[in-house]
Amino acid sequence: MITKFSYGKPVETDAVVQDIPVSGHEQIRHFSRKKGPVQYFTCMLGEDDIVYGLGETMRGVNKRGARYISFNYDDPHHKDDMPSMYGAHNFLVVDGEKPFGAFFDTPSKIVFDIDSKSTGVLSVACETQDLYLYIIEGESAYGIVKQFLGIIGRSFLPPLWAFGYGQSRWGYKTERDVRRVAAKHEEAGIPLDYICMDIDYMDRYIDFTVNKRRFPDLAGFTARLKEKGLRLVPIVDAGIKIEPGNPVYDEGVKNGYFCQNHEGTNFKAEVWPGMTHFPDFFQEKVRRWFGDQYRFYTGQGLTGFWNDMNEPAIFSTEYRTKDTKPDVERGDVDQPERHIADFKDFFHRLDDGREKSNYEVHNLYGALMTRASGEGLDRLLDQRYLLFSRSSYIGAHRYGGIWTGDNASTWEMLRQNVYHMPSLNMCGFLYSGADTGGFGGNCTRELLLRWLAVSVFTPLMRNHTAIFTKNQECYRFRQVEDFQTVVSLRYRLLPYLYSEFMKAALRQDMLIRPLAFDYPGDGKARRIQDQLMVGESVMIAPVLEQGVKGRVVYLPEPMTEVRWSREGFACMEVGAGERTVMAPLNQVVFYIRQGKLVPVGKQVLNTSELDLLDVELLGTGTEYEQYADDGFTKDCGLNRCVVRRKE
Ligand code: NOJ
Repeated sequence: MITKFSYGKPVETDAVVQDIPVSGHEQIRHFSRKKGPVQYFTCMLGEDDIVYGLGETMRGVNKRGARYISFNYDDPHHKDDMPSMYGAHNFLVVDGEKPFGAFFDTPSKIVFDIDSKSTGVLSVACETQDLYLYIIEGESAYGIVKQFLGIIGRSFLPPLWAFGYGQSRWGYKTERDVRRVAAKHEEAGIPLDYICMDIDYMDRYIDFTVNKRRFPDLAGFTARLKEKGLRLVPIVDAGIKIEPGNPVYDEGVKNGYFCQNHEGTNFKAEVWPGMTHFPDFFQEKVRRWFGDQYRFYTGQGLTGFWNDMNEPAIFSTEYRTKDTKPDVERGDVDQPERHIADFKDFFHRLDDGREKSNYEVHNLYGALMTRASGEGLDRLLDQRYLLFSRSSYIGAHRYGGIWTGDNASTWEMLRQNVYHMPSLNMCGFLYSGADTGGFGGNCTRELLLRWLAVSVFTPLMRNHTAIFTKNQECYRFRQVEDFQTVVSLRYRLLPYLYSEFMKAALRQDMLIRPLAFDYPGDGKARRIQDQLMVGESVMIAPVLEQGVKGRVVYLPEPMTEVRWSREGFACMEVGAGERTVMAPLNQVVFYIRQGKLVPVGKQVLNTSELDLLDVELLGTGTEYEQYADDGFTKDCGLNRCVVRRKE
């Protein structure tokens, strides 16, 4: 059951697509509400209650024991106590005696204190009078999440090639660099589907341009790569460089499409290209205009994109030089104050006629950029597109995926990747993943192999790193065949992973879940955070520590243990309970639930060679409902077939 409450005059975020009437009752169940300049919603947690949700936030799958702040922010130092990341996903589920969920629908800042003082108090402080609150009640945490996914609309459906392996690096500058990446993968027999082009492909980091010296014939290059089954995925940033003569800039100025400052002129903020203006994505006509700009790329054969810097990230502004120090003591200040001031310095014109500072509606900016590009690409292309963004709000999951931003090459970040996946799924972001191998810092061979073994199971599987780090492509490391083995598993599993992704998205369900959702009565499974369910048949228990040869795995029921190595798949039936499992670096171990099947395909070098229906079956089940299609058709109904084990 879902009850909707409305306070003040909420900004319509479009996160919820189902029409739910506002409740006539003042009284909210589960929370008590205290009005004031900041509205507080509080409740008491039971001693054993687990709190799920909050999508892209740090720490574990159980959010209990810390504070989190919804205020989208570009901070590359992903430490455990970092309160905000790039997305605002204000949905949580309290899993206790009477489980319930709550979605705080406002683009303003919210502080979630989930029993940080160990007093059992959960408090949600909203820095606005205007919000919708949805309270969801149900029998189980998983049931509540499914109700929530049901009202926020279907997740974005990328094309099949977006489930292939992607190679990226901030620092591929020229066509030659990209060609080399493709050739090296081919030489090593490592499957590959796309290569990302970071800001260096542009002319002086200006959106919707190409540096002609570096990429003299982008359309021709795109076509040549496509013949080999490879795609290019360019980055697009939020700010438009201030440069008269650039048609995008000129049009934006002429039509008043950019955000203005309090003096009524276009706000200026420094990002990669120098001083830029920010498109006012809050206006429908601006979104349409911005989305149409992707014609620049689609006209050259590109169908995959990567939206960045859309929190928005700001280096300096017309009012603040880079060197300005925060004028308050940092202390308990949650975001560097200088940036807070930046967000108060520019304004959005909402389609309902109101004007709001960016600070007041901050968390929607990136989501609306995703919406602008998603809707634009939908108009421009007659096939599905790949789109993932850094900043997000619930609702953006209908237009694109997300990646979790500037992590680092550390084991802690690998663990965080595992914790993020179910939390993101609860908020609709099924197509997601982290920078495999880590963005900041130098990756080791061991870390990359272990990380790839996790990314094999995340819908977005992209190796990405920063310009100032050591090279991180698989072929840079010793015994490249080990990398080839691990990445190849992804392709063997694609008939299953694609099918499970599409079924979850089309049925508005989760793909990646905590064990507790599938084994609610199992006290031990309820507390496990480093093992995950992937689709209906698979459980993973990845190795997340340096220098170990395996790990202890908990099996809530008897399962098939599948060991993938150069020799292929080896299956063994194992009993329920704890077992110590050896996992050499060049092998990947995963589990298939009792009575379930996993269809695996033939070994291919990219998805263009893949026949989703040419499969063999692993596991002890008798039939599997497989989703398969051509991989790009837009209007995917549920194209299912049932594959049966031969007698
Ligand atoms: C920040 C993004 O998070 C990162 O992935 C990218 O490489 C840099 N911007 C440069 O564009």
